[in-house]
Formats: sequence, C-alpha cells, structure tokens
Amino acid sequence: MNESLRQQFGNIDIYLFDQLLKGTYDDCQSVLDAGCGQGRNVAYFLQSGYQVYGVDSSVDNITAIKQLAASFSSSSPQENFSVALVENLPFDDEKFDLVISSAVLHFADNAGHFGEMLNSMWRVIRPGGYLFCRLASDIGIENLVRSIGNGRYLLPDGSERFLVNQEMLLSMTSELGASLHEPIKTTNVQNLRSMTTWCLQK
Ligand SMILES: C[S@@+](CC[C@H](N)C(=O)[O-])C[C@H]1O[C@@H](n2cnc3c(N)ncnc32)[C@H](O)[C@@H]1O
Repeated sequence: MNESLRQQFGNIDIYLFDQLLKGTYDDCQSVLDAGCGQGRNVAYFLQSGYQVYGVDSSVDNITAIKQLAASFSSSSPQENFSVALVENLPFDDEKFDLVISSAVLHFADNAGHFGEMLNSMWRVIRPGGYLFCRLASDIGIENLVRSIGNGRYLLPDGSERFLVNQEMLLSMTSELGASLHEPIKTTNVQNLRSMTTWCLQK
C-alpha cells in the first residue's frame, strides 16, 4: 500500500472513507469516536485538525489512542480520550458535529442496551450533525443465524452478536427523527457475517 495513504488514513473503515471522499463531513469540526478501540478510524481526523474525542470501555485502548493522538500535532489533547461507556457518554448535549460508532453497537446485551447506546450518541450530536454506524446485521444471512435470546444471535463465524435488520434500522431512524443521507448498505462476508452501514443526519 502507498505509505502516504496509510499514514493519512490508517486502517480506516472503508465506508467511513467513502463518506470522507463524498465530502459529507466537510463542515464538521468536532468528532467523537464512541467505542474508539485503538483509534484506527481517527488518524485522518487527528491529522486534519479536527477536535477529536474518543471513549472506550477498555483502559488499554484509551492508553493506545492517547499515544496515537500525541504522535500528531493536533487540536486533540490527551484529555479528550477517556474510559467511559457509550450508553453513558460524559459530554454535554449537542457537543459534536459527528459521532462514529464502528463495530460497537452489536455488542449490546439486548434491545434496551442497544437503545441506551444509540440515544446516548444521538444526544451529543448537534442538530444537522451526523451519526456514522457500522454494525452487524442479519441482512442476507437471515437463515444462517441462530437466535440465542435478547436479540442476540450465533453467527456462522462462531461469534455472538446483537443483530439488527433493515426494518429495525428504518424504524429507529424514524423514531430518532433522523434522515438517512445514504441508503443502508450491507456487506455479506462470505455468508459468515453481514456488516451494515447506517448513516444518519440529525
Ligand atoms: C470491535 S472493537 C471496534 C473498535 C473501533 N471502533 C474500530 O472500529 O476499530 C469494539 C470496541 O468497542 C468497545 N466497547 C464495546 N462496548 C462498549 C461500551 N458499551 N462502551 C464503550 N466501549 C465499548 C470495546 O472495548 C472495543 O474497543
């Protein structure tokens, strides 16, 4: 891979990259990665002068993303990254232009927990701001997953996930009063799992 591309974008999610190429987030300045992991999705934002924040339940991941942030001269001091739960975000209402939720919502214990995480993220987005979600679904693999209760399923890849479907996503979009600025898109990974991209504007 071209090294400068890797340096600029890191191992960014391809569908988040797609939104960057489309210019969707051109007017955004503040970005929260909710369940940031070690920060693979924020390298570009850090380097481009966005005010980047991140929370994760893992201490080790927050240590790693602080190191990543410190390696770029940016407007994102280490205090912006903290150990916290997505369902209980330690930020004021409407603080962010963009919230990223990449591969986090499918760890929900049940529908109530999923709703708490979603509402918490929605609360901290300003009117007109964006929520980018990448999450597991059963779209295209409906007959290959097995319910284990509480909205969670055993997938053909052996993992257990809370799964959504298109009807649920459309219904939650409407309940939030959100608009879909991109159609719901799903990647079926060789019938082992399906990953769906859900892009909302508040
Ligand atoms: C599969 S990793 C994805 C990390 C990152 N978003 C990415 O795309 O590379 C899931 C992350 O979500 C975090 N996580 C899961 N549930 C969480 C919760 N309720 N609150 C905060 N972090 C959570 C985990 O610690 C882990 O870092």
